[in-house]
Amino acid sequence: MTEWMKPGCCAVITGGANGIGLAAAKAYAAAGMSVVIADKDEAALANAQDQLGAADILAVPCDVSDLASVEDLRDRAFDRFGAVHCLMNNAGVALPAGAPWESRDALDTIVNVNLMGVINGCQAFIPAMLDSGVAGAIINTGSKQGITRPPGNFAYNLSKAGVVAYTESVAHALRQIDGGGLTAHLLVPGFVYSAMVSRFLPEKPDGAWTVEETVDFMLAALQRGDFYILCPDNETPRAVDEKRIRWNADDIVQNRPALSRWHPDYADEFAAFMKDETDQ
Ligand SMILES: NC(=O)c1ccc[n+]([C@@H]2O[C@H](COP(=O)([O-])OP(=O)(O)OC[C@H]3O[C@@H](n4cnc5c(N)ncnc54)[C@H](O)[C@@H]3O)[C@@H](O)[C@H]2O)c1
Repeated sequence: MTEWMKPGCCAVITGGANGIGLAAAKAYAAAGMSVVIADKDEAALANAQDQLGAADILAVPCDVSDLASVEDLRDRAFDRFGAVHCLMNNAGVALPAGAPWESRDALDTIVNVNLMGVINGCQAFIPAMLDSGVAGAIINTGSKQGITRPPGNFAYNLSKAGVVAYTESVAHALRQIDGGGLTAHLLVPGFVYSAMVSRFLPEKPDGAWTVEETVDFMLAALQRGDFYILCPDNETPRAVDEKRIRWNADDIVQNRPALSRWHPDYADEFAAFMKDETDQ
């Protein structure tokens, strides 16, 4: 499924100056691909370009929340490398947000980067990728917070829930194209020790995965053709995620209160539901 991961093919990665994006850029460059890293942080972008060394790298300052900036990124990528085979819409921010009826500025920023940034990437690149007829992949970075939506940051949850819904639509629409060579995938990282996290935690917690572990898992999942790339980490195995996701979905089926996992009346029931997993 990753026949595009080879010399002569090109990957574009937003949020490519740090963290998961930079680790992916290194993996693609190591496979001999041309790589375009795009990021709003120009100092980090220059540093990332140095780390990527002699590989065929283009570093483009870009604000994914601005469609014109993403269209400029597309034009520069196609001008330089002639085609784009992999688009990784990965740029993201996690800012504190208060109650859902507060924090309008944080909400606007988080949604404009995390959700509209993904949509801007797809709308700018997919028509051009389809026109060139390449086999390739669109990878959008979501979050478990977009699936189980835990209390704490309504704006981040909302943005990432939007990424889930949008990426499912993209995958389905691409599937309808006769002979189309593009597939879409949802990357759902676990707890990953990246710049986003090290800002708050100066040392890597044991429970977190490294960015490299996350990218290795993603590449294996892409190889299998998975749509949902649900990454575990050192504290949350897949079986725990599966049960949390199932509990969430069952809130509707069983007509429980919203986010019942965090409702005191359901604490015992939830603990019993999770028991086999938490006993391990
Ligand atoms: N680290 C985790 O535990 C974790 C968990 C789930 C999801 N994610 C998601 O993974 C993705 C990558 O995050 P990371 O952990 O590598 O964090 P990171 O902070 O290391 O990387 C994010 C990059 O996005 C860039 N960026 C932010 N706003 C931008 C904008 N408007 N335009 C262009 N670039 C912009 C930043 O400058 C940074 O280089 C994000 O979408 C994040 O929400 C991370």
